[in-house]
Amino acid sequence: MNAMREDYDRLEEVFAAASAGAATFHRDLAERPVAADYTDQIRPTETLPEKGDGALAALRRFEAEIVPGLSGSVGPRYLGLVTGGATPAALAGDWLAASVDQNLALPGDSIATAITLRTLDFLKDLFGLPREAFEGSFTTGATGSNLLGLTTAREWCAEKAGVSAAEVGMQGLPAIPVLSACPHASMIKVLSVTGFGRNALVPVARLPGSEAMDASALDAALGEQADGPKIVVASAGTVTMTDFDDLNAVADICARHDAWLHVDAAFGAFARCLPELAELAAGLERADSIAGDCHKWRNVPYDSGFFFTRHGDLLERAQGLSAAYLATGSAEPAMMSRTIESSQRFRALPVWMTLVAYGREGVEDVVRANCAQASKLAAWIEAEPGFTLLCPARLNVVVLSVAEEDGTPASAERNGALLAALARGGTVFASPGAVGEHAGIRMCFSNWMTDDADLPIIFEAFTLARASL
Ligand SMILES: Cc1ncc(COP(=O)(O)O)c(C=O)c1O
Repeated sequence: MNAMREDYDRLEEVFAAASAGAATFHRDLAERPVAADYTDQIRPTETLPEKGDGALAALRRFEAEIVPGLSGSVGPRYLGLVTGGATPAALAGDWLAASVDQNLALPGDSIATAITLRTLDFLKDLFGLPREAFEGSFTTGATGSNLLGLTTAREWCAEKAGVSAAEVGMQGLPAIPVLSACPHASMIKVLSVTGFGRNALVPVARLPGSEAMDASALDAALGEQADGPKIVVASAGTVTMTDFDDLNAVADICARHDAWLHVDAAFGAFARCLPELAELAAGLERADSIAGDCHKWRNVPYDSGFFFTRHGDLLERAQGLSAAYLATGSAEPAMMSRTIESSQRFRALPVWMTLVAYGREGVEDVVRANCAQASKLAAWIEAEPGFTLLCPARLNVVVLSVAEEDGTPASAERNGALLAALARGGTVFASPGAVGEHAGIRMCFSNWMTDDADLPIIFEAFTLARASL
């Protein structure tokens, strides 16, 4: 206890040391290797100390033992997965969320719930979703949001069968098909976690040369299903080819077949922020439920996702909980009944901070810049004989392959070797990817920090890595 009290007495000093360490980490980002070699720093035999040395000593150990093993994933040339950076305001908001440590489980004793609702409204404004039509919550990410989508959809399906899935579980329900053309891997996981089962997935044909759903194939597939409730999972931005299902057509078809429409818009929702891209995600507002992320293109630190549904009552039926000690006289909603976690951090605060600090324009600038960077990289790849583009760069992702002498895409092994050479080079991080039968390399621009000045560094890294093969 004494060490904690001493630390609390010198809180300013502890915070200043942590803040200086964080600032140094950010200032050094451009030089930091994108991927760390940390194997020598793992200490599996270290045992729990009996007595600690206090926060300042722990911070010194953090600097010496942990910082050298961290990746540069928050930096401008980490183009793997869909990795957002962290805007200064979002980062400050995240620290403050930890500092004020509000528990969003219950309303009534803090403004935190009201700010959460207001921030969700800001997000609806950003994406052009009618405020009054959607209710929602913050989540740990799009996987959590997809899970909320399917548990809410499951209640809707159960209601059609005259029961509540929250009460009777899956065994009380008819088999429910889940139709999708290109579900994200997290949605497949969600099928497992929610009890639908991965086998519930009914694959729908895609448009030629695209990951987008063939709407007429969806119409036919829904027509072939047995009578009873059905769920359609559509994509607003597939993770590799960034394709968008025609959401208006899909919504029309769902209405005709009385199917629930869930849209995974993890990063594609941001297309709605730019007039030149908005058409891609037209119809998103017609979804029954929407999964999205702020830790991707809104550059809020992990973990930060959001979920919206037109059926707030069903969301609460699926997620609600009660106990004598959880009773509240507040008229505000209890966020514990709108998401998976009961106790939960003030996840809205970093989102509120970044939206207030930079506004709609701040979002638009990042989306526009990242898409332009992807286009420029794609143009460079097309002009380079050692590489071939595997699909057009339609949004913020570039998928390419090493090219053989005759220009055809090289094997997965050759692309893997290039990825390894890139990681060794330390300036650019990319992910593996595949388009159709061709394995390749996938690079996603989603960091506010990435600058046009990073492009020549990326080109050089690719040239060197290609020459090393
Ligand atoms: C389309 C899509 N959906 C869902 C996810 C899962 O997101 P998260 O890792 O934030 O849970 C991703 C991640 O890249 C994604 O691109």
